[in-house]
Amino acid sequence: MKKRILSGMRPTGKLHIGHILGALDNWVRLQDEYQCFYMVADLHALTSEYADTSAMPENIKEMVIDWLACGIDPAKSTLLVQSRIPEHSELHLILSMITPVSWLERCPTYKEQMHEIKGKDLSTYGFLGYPVLQAADITIYKAEVVPIGEDQLPHLELTREIVRRFCQFYGDVLPEPQALLTSVPRLLGTDGRKMSKSYNNAIYIADSPEEIKQKVMAMVTDPARLRPTDPGHPEICSVFSYDKIFSKEQLTEIEEKCRKGKRGCVECKKILLENMQKFLAPIQARRRQYEQDLPYIEKVLNEGTARAQEFARNTMQEVKKAVRLK
Ligand code: TRP
Ligand code: SF4
Repeated sequence: MKKRILSGMRPTGKLHIGHILGALDNWVRLQDEYQCFYMVADLHALTSEYADTSAMPENIKEMVIDWLACGIDPAKSTLLVQSRIPEHSELHLILSMITPVSWLERCPTYKEQMHEIKGKDLSTYGFLGYPVLQAADITIYKAEVVPIGEDQLPHLELTREIVRRFCQFYGDVLPEPQALLTSVPRLLGTDGRKMSKSYNNAIYIADSPEEIKQKVMAMVTDPARLRPTDPGHPEICSVFSYDKIFSKEQLTEIEEKCRKGKRGCVECKKILLENMQKFLAPIQARRRQYEQDLPYIEKVLNEGTARAQEFARNTMQEVKKAVRLK
């Protein structure tokens, strides 16, 4: 029997190359070794986007197209939409009964976001309970393994604590999940800051070749290089940090030419551009195909969601029995 995996992403818009390297490549690799459930976390998106949900349907569609284009295979993995499976919400409610508020209030991601995110009122019951919903997502499929980035570790730790508490009260019904950390080279935005939609410094899977060219050619390099013959410092150059991922084979040459002032930044960027286009071309070709076939996307989500719900229903029955709600 293969072990089960659950992971999810909030549908907040088009995905960028950071998502490919940080999560999707890993999700794709895990598909053969595990029974994978990949979830569109639309309820989690609602915790912060509740005041304007107009983009939700579009965001879900675009994200799933990106998943498939990157190689998530519905024949191997179950793709599901969280809000279409009421068992997620039902288990969330039961888990919320046993989760001390203090655990949630001291969660580092909660404190950070309350502090950092302006312009949205996050002082809601739902937002505080974000990790409880995540615990429900994971345990409703009795997932043993949860591939996540480091930023999600506090949530997984909370899931484990909630599960332990649940089992103390009601018996050994839910397994304690393990994190599977994605070891990623952290990719910054084209301006050297954190990659983010609001900085407009990310390269999206859906970007046209022209948009990608513009973004790469505008990338920040070593500011000390005014002429191509000035010796450069690749370690402080955004282009070079991308080269480490996309131009692996030419890396020593790129570094040497930069340090010795033998190649100008414009020429150097063109090398990166070509390598990135090569990496993205097959993904983008698949993306264009899926864009043409929206009924197929809906079918994938319907079938995956139905399969997942069967599993979720069974767990919910066991949970209710354990809690003596039946
Ligand atoms: N909170 C996760 C994120 O923002 C998304 C998510 C929701 C998730 N439920 C999950 C991830 C369950 C892993 C397991 O990235
Ligand atoms: Fe960066 Fe290349 Fe310019 Fe060196 S030559 S500073 S690596 S863009």
